[in-house]
Amino acid sequence: MTSDGFENLLHERRVFAPSDEFKAQANAQPSLYGAADADRLAFWEDQAGRLHWDRKWDLPLDWTDAPFAQWFVGGKLNVAVNCVDRHVNDGYGEQVAIHFEGEPGDTRAITYQQLQDEVCQAANALVELGIEAGDRVAIYLPMIPEAVISMLACARLGAAHSVIFGGFSAEALRSRINDAQAKLVITADGGYRRGKAAALKPAVDEAVTETPSVNNVLVVERTGQEVEWTQRDLRWKDLVGRQSTTHVPQAFDSEHPLFILYTSGTTGSPKGILHTSGGYLTQTAYTHYNVFDFKANTDVFWCTADIGWITGHSYVVYGPLANRATQVLYEGTPDSPHQGRWWEIIEKYGVTTLYTAPTAIRTFSKWGREIPQEFDLSSLRLLGSVGEPINPEAWMWYRSVIGGNRCPIVDTWWQTETGAIMISPLPGITECKPGSAMRPLPGICAKIVDDAGVPVGNSEGGYLVLDEPWPAMLRGIWGDPQRYIETYWSRWPGVYFAGDGAKYDSQGAMWLLGRVDDVMNISGHRISTAEVESALVSHPATAEAAVVGANDETTGQAIVAFVILREHAEISESTVDDLRAHVAREIGPIAKPRQVLIVKELPKTRSGKIMRRLLRDVAENRSLGDMSTLADPAVMGLIADGLSAPGAVED
Ligand code: WT7
Repeated sequence: MTSDGFENLLHERRVFAPSDEFKAQANAQPSLYGAADADRLAFWEDQAGRLHWDRKWDLPLDWTDAPFAQWFVGGKLNVAVNCVDRHVNDGYGEQVAIHFEGEPGDTRAITYQQLQDEVCQAANALVELGIEAGDRVAIYLPMIPEAVISMLACARLGAAHSVIFGGFSAEALRSRINDAQAKLVITADGGYRRGKAAALKPAVDEAVTETPSVNNVLVVERTGQEVEWTQRDLRWKDLVGRQSTTHVPQAFDSEHPLFILYTSGTTGSPKGILHTSGGYLTQTAYTHYNVFDFKANTDVFWCTADIGWITGHSYVVYGPLANRATQVLYEGTPDSPHQGRWWEIIEKYGVTTLYTAPTAIRTFSKWGREIPQEFDLSSLRLLGSVGEPINPEAWMWYRSVIGGNRCPIVDTWWQTETGAIMISPLPGITECKPGSAMRPLPGICAKIVDDAGVPVGNSEGGYLVLDEPWPAMLRGIWGDPQRYIETYWSRWPGVYFAGDGAKYDSQGAMWLLGRVDDVMNISGHRISTAEVESALVSHPATAEAAVVGANDETTGQAIVAFVILREHAEISESTVDDLRAHVAREIGPIAKPRQVLIVKELPKTRSGKIMRRLLRDVAENRSLGDMSTLADPAVMGLIADGLSAPGAVED
């Protein structure tokens, strides 16, 4: 441990090496690391060779105006052509690109030829509406094929899309439309969620009353529910349906804006994270190929993220389609109409690769292993995780129950800002430790540093930084270059600070410890939320846990834990004491929670991250702060009710 780093509490000894068979067939072989170390920029130039360029770049990287990077300077390409047309031109028009599964059970198999036709039709429709290269288009759609088609149509025209997650309110929609000055909104009447048609268009109608930049709203009729129509509204099936299926694409500069994606971060107004074309597509294709060991002729890929998040942009749309993937797109929730829906989908389509989030894995473990065990999951050969630290026990559950102890797991660390995966095992190389993202990918430079910005050693913790530019990096915050510099590049000169705490274990593997704003300080010891939560999740009764530091007269802060128990867990009077003792035993008395509160739900953002800020308010008996990014506002009431119920123990 270092005086200014994190305490290094949790020690994981289990190691899982890839099988000899997996190793032998893996896309990424150990020489990949050596190639990147020998000449990093030449390595990235090789990776850019995965794409079709209309004009080759003159220079791999221009970093003279740091932190504003330019990659593959002078190169020209069309991102949509790379994701669609070139596969058709190569003779793969009949290959299924998307197996769409609607929540009600309706399905569509869309081949690359059909995708090309529909993207061209949508692009022609956008041209008719006056959309040109450099414009912005807001997309507010459910997880239906038109979402992917709309994104690709924008990319084809060089118009930047701004996808806004369908769960956001009219107000969130309006502020994002105005910030980007979008000319067009593409939406749907609604989408299916939990067996019901959930309306989307009313939020758009409300938002566009105060968005002067918007000329039109293009509406996909998905549910057929009643919606209001005005002059500015156009029906997708009319306007797009009557367009030609040919469209002559234009090549754009490598640094041409591809999209803006708003991320709220922990504080302040949402930031419009800007991504551009050539570098972004290079790194998403490179990582999708190597991290997911992707085989275009045999794999069926399924990334469960919504296209409203960066994971959906990079690993539903751009990375997989650049690599000619066949993939699953599912509209609904995991429990509709039953808790086995995902496993049923995997069996039905023979999914080989599943990429999802720890929050989902913990939810499934709460529901119990009996549910996935009813389905044939033998097609799976690789599993991935993203979004939060995955607790070692959740990792073990994922490995044994979903992966049948046969599939490597890639725990991938990255951010909206990084655009693509940065730290991850390579499945045919790395000996994985449950809960660790292991090491930076070839071509990526990441380090853990102390308060002074000095790299820490093995068994030490600190702050995760990226000290060299990377191709898919954000190019800035839309309209606010100063905020970009201040937010990401000001803590230590010349390095990008990600906002996460991390540690090296005794062998130099990287462990992510959660956001530094969430760190707890107990009697002067900095303790990570991730480690205490993982200790709680390693108790057989626990499905999910969130811990926060609450003010404490004696210790400065004390740990308060919120725990969701497994559905079949045996609970007794001593459960709370057992859990506290379990943490003390697993990681030491310093981390023993002062209180353990048994709750039914945890407050999460719409992308599934636990909102510890609100739990701190509860733990400190404060009125609750801003709840606008909370997925389900009712959970705070459930938690408050739980405080007076048995289980809330203090000593
Ligand atoms: C933050 C970024 C990256 C796509 C989804 C989230 C956390 C992400 C991991 C991981 C530990 C992780 C970090 C990061 N995070 N992946 N494998 N292990 N933490 O994108 O919403 O921009 O969030 O998610 O805290 O900073 P995002």
